[in-house]
Amino acid sequence: MSQKIRSTFILGIETSCDECSASIVSHTPNSEFQVLSLTTFSQIHIHRPFGGVVPEIASRNHLETINPIIDQALTDAGIAAQDLSAIAVTNRPGLVGSLLVGVSAAKAMAYALDKPLIPVHHLEGHAASIFLPTPNSVEREQPLDFPMLLAIVSGGHTNLYLIHQPPETWPADFLKTALIAQTRDDAAGEAFDKIAKSFGLPYPGGIALEQTAVQGNGNPHAFSLPRALPQSFDFSFSGLKTAASLLANQLRQTGTFHDRLPDLCASAQEAIVDTLLTKICLAVKQYKCKSLALVGGVAANKRLRARLTAEAPNTLTRPPLFPPLSYCTDNAAMIAAAGAFRFQQGHTLSFEQTLTLNAIANPAF
Ligand code: KG4
Ligand code: ZN
Repeated sequence: MSQKIRSTFILGIETSCDECSASIVSHTPNSEFQVLSLTTFSQIHIHRPFGGVVPEIASRNHLETINPIIDQALTDAGIAAQDLSAIAVTNRPGLVGSLLVGVSAAKAMAYALDKPLIPVHHLEGHAASIFLPTPNSVEREQPLDFPMLLAIVSGGHTNLYLIHQPPETWPADFLKTALIAQTRDDAAGEAFDKIAKSFGLPYPGGIALEQTAVQGNGNPHAFSLPRALPQSFDFSFSGLKTAASLLANQLRQTGTFHDRLPDLCASAQEAIVDTLLTKICLAVKQYKCKSLALVGGVAANKRLRARLTAEAPNTLTRPPLFPPLSYCTDNAAMIAAAGAFRFQQGHTLSFEQTLTLNAIANPAF
């Protein structure tokens, strides 16, 4: 009961792409989080035959699943909708039709229950994911030392941010002002997905490529693939994508593709991991960062986690931080966490703003 009095209870809703997700997190004034529930319906199997997400199918499916997903999250958490402190929803960026479903559901609930509504930028959700405890744990993360280098590495973004203050004081546009590097073409997750597709692996490619490399005991140094822009903090993966696909075709012509697939996957993965690692370590040194965090779907990659842990500069005051695996790819717990920080700062919408909140496809702030 004492926990209920001290804590806020935030419902998070995430529908920006092909995951329909709702979560209840509790948050104490000294930033202890507990994920009381996380319910996600993944549409991966629906989009797999098309080799990628079909936006119209995604939004129609969100429409069917959003209400049962929110009900389930409330039931699993043992919280009545009336006891929620606020509702946080991803309203940008993403597929506009998919975002609209989550935003409409959140607006309707906020209006009907007379609860504050908090719009959340999807990337701010990924940033907040490092503060979530491992599932079923109430353990508190140690405080971070600043400046922190935050790498958001997902299917749509490969961004480096220099963060100077704790999340309780993050201003509304902190991701805009803190950005120090981004990709000039494909994102790292997009590179994983497109390279995997050119190897004939199923969507989504990141995990499929990783598993093929691991299960076939692939050699990461079997093939030499390009690592672009070695002198810059910015990223570029389109040359690697082309080189990997050409190499796959050469191996097909010589009839060795199937046998060499694990080596091919391990080598492509290594090129992406090397590129990320080099620039992240360079930025940590250049900006004298004391902590380092890696978030987003690609942060689930085990080779990347292991190499970053082993090779991060020893000037960091603690090992690199990664969210628990279940909070790397898109999920509503991270949206609820970002919403909790905003709620703590009093950043909720007025009645008028609640009714007019819109979904925005563009990532700009
Ligand atoms: O953060 P996320 O779920 O969605 C976006 O905001 O984009 O990231 C999805 C991306 C996909 O490109 C997917 O292939 C990649 O994360 N991914 C991985 C792994 N798991 C997911 N990439 C490499 N290794 C993985 N284990
Ligand atoms: Zn994401």
